[in-house]
Amino acid sequence: MMKAVLAGVVGAVLCATAPVLAAELPRIVADHGRHALLVDGAPYLMLGAQINNSSAWPAMLPKAWPTVAQLDANTLEVPIAWEQIEPKEGQFDFSFLDQLLTEARAHHVHLVLLWFGTWKNTSPSYAPAWVKLDNKRFPRMIDEKGQSIYALSPFATTTLDADRAAFTRLMAHLKAADPDHEVIMVQVENETGTYGTVRDHSPAADKAFAAPVPAEIVRRMGVQAGTWSQVFGADADEQFHAWAIARYVDAVAAAGKAELPLPMYVNASLNDPFKPQDPKTYSAGGPTHQVLAMWKAAAPHVDAIGPDIYTSDFAHYMKYLDLYGRPDNMLFVPETGNAKDYARHFFAVVGRGGVGFSPFGMDQTGYYNFPLGAAKLDAETIDAFAANYRLFRPLERIWPKLAYEGRTWGVSEPTAPEAGHKQVMTLGRWRATATFGQWQFGIDPPTGNPTPSGGVAVAELGPDEYLVTGYHARVSFDLPSPKPGEHMIIDRVEEGHFDADGHWVFERVWNGDEVDYGLNFTGLPQLLKVKLATYR
Ligand code: DGJ
Repeated sequence: MMKAVLAGVVGAVLCATAPVLAAELPRIVADHGRHALLVDGAPYLMLGAQINNSSAWPAMLPKAWPTVAQLDANTLEVPIAWEQIEPKEGQFDFSFLDQLLTEARAHHVHLVLLWFGTWKNTSPSYAPAWVKLDNKRFPRMIDEKGQSIYALSPFATTTLDADRAAFTRLMAHLKAADPDHEVIMVQVENETGTYGTVRDHSPAADKAFAAPVPAEIVRRMGVQAGTWSQVFGADADEQFHAWAIARYVDAVAAAGKAELPLPMYVNASLNDPFKPQDPKTYSAGGPTHQVLAMWKAAAPHVDAIGPDIYTSDFAHYMKYLDLYGRPDNMLFVPETGNAKDYARHFFAVVGRGGVGFSPFGMDQTGYYNFPLGAAKLDAETIDAFAANYRLFRPLERIWPKLAYEGRTWGVSEPTAPEAGHKQVMTLGRWRATATFGQWQFGIDPPTGNPTPSGGVAVAELGPDEYLVTGYHARVSFDLPSPKPGEHMIIDRVEEGHFDADGHWVFERVWNGDEVDYGLNFTGLPQLLKVKLATYR
């Protein structure tokens, strides 16, 4: 009887996620403040990887694909540099992109293209020489002392026109070269903002700064009309700079979408959300948490803003997920550190309905961004991330559908001992508690894993029925508010897996020792269906 119920639930999930059209354009949908990335017409969980900055050359791709295969990633993020596609003004070379598309098809891997244009980590390093060396035509920003600085000005229409023209050509080429939509999203620019200067002080910028805040910004942000200083007070410079960069990026995105309306996002270099900081010390004007509302108002053609998370500290990681996963912003982690202790946060991301996760620097070119990532990308490090993808690859269509319906939860292992080495998930009337660092057969209090590696994800499949998985954690269920005389009981715990068609394949029932101390997940990939019940 229960098997029939389970089959029905999973069947319903699968029917609802079946592809509608083979070559349907990828898109983002939103409902009740939740989001899904649709690929081939159905929600898709991006199990991603990003290659190193200088790996986007034909000769380097053989050093990327083996890592992608080891990871079992379904999507690769690859830079497309302005200097590479338009080395001479008006002369375009898409040979790398064409080769990338051919190889991605052969490897059955989707792509996210990263447009390294006017700004790459705020600098013009990936703009062609004819742009970055011609500061008369493509001016740099002016600082408050009147000095020209390293970053290009967002007020130069010549630069915007040139970047937009190149990006438009890229999207037009993609439209012709990628009819099956191997490419599922495009990142517009890379980590924008400015270090050391909070806004441009060029004559054009100063003129705009003295003028009223544009009416559409006032309306979209719901603020009082006035000049920048009147509306934003001490934050006026930073909000103004965010507006200037966001509307520039928006113009580039809009022009690209006019050719091929793929989902487009921007990535954010982050700063500490727990301590006020001098904006000169971080990428001011980029889509940092301080100015997300401005970016949303000024860049309506940008579908999402993703945090590049390079701290594995639990409190910071969770805070960034909370700040960027908003009803008006799809949660997506376009970059994260590739050291082992970052891998566990995958569970918190997918549990919150994040549509993708992508460690950075995943190739064998021998470059390591330690201390922001691993000191060496050895087999053990890759496997920390591969283990997650091994679990979720068979769920890449099932999980994001459940997440879009608001039926998923996930936690990663906290590092601060005061958190008690546990995390609690409230699942309607049930509660699931994940604890970290306990023997399987015992009731000793959790001490945390020797290195933080625990994670748990839970999805509701039907009434009182949950899909539960994780690593290096114990999961216990309870009923926080029982009716008088009501007690919780585990009805049944099935271990199994999903086959290639998404059907549940039963392997065994867990009972006795395997459930008496909670459900203990080790380093093995294990997927459980848990049916809860009560007795009186
Ligand atoms: C964030 C940038 O977006 C990447 O391109 C790369 O520079 C990494 N930082 C390196 O940690």
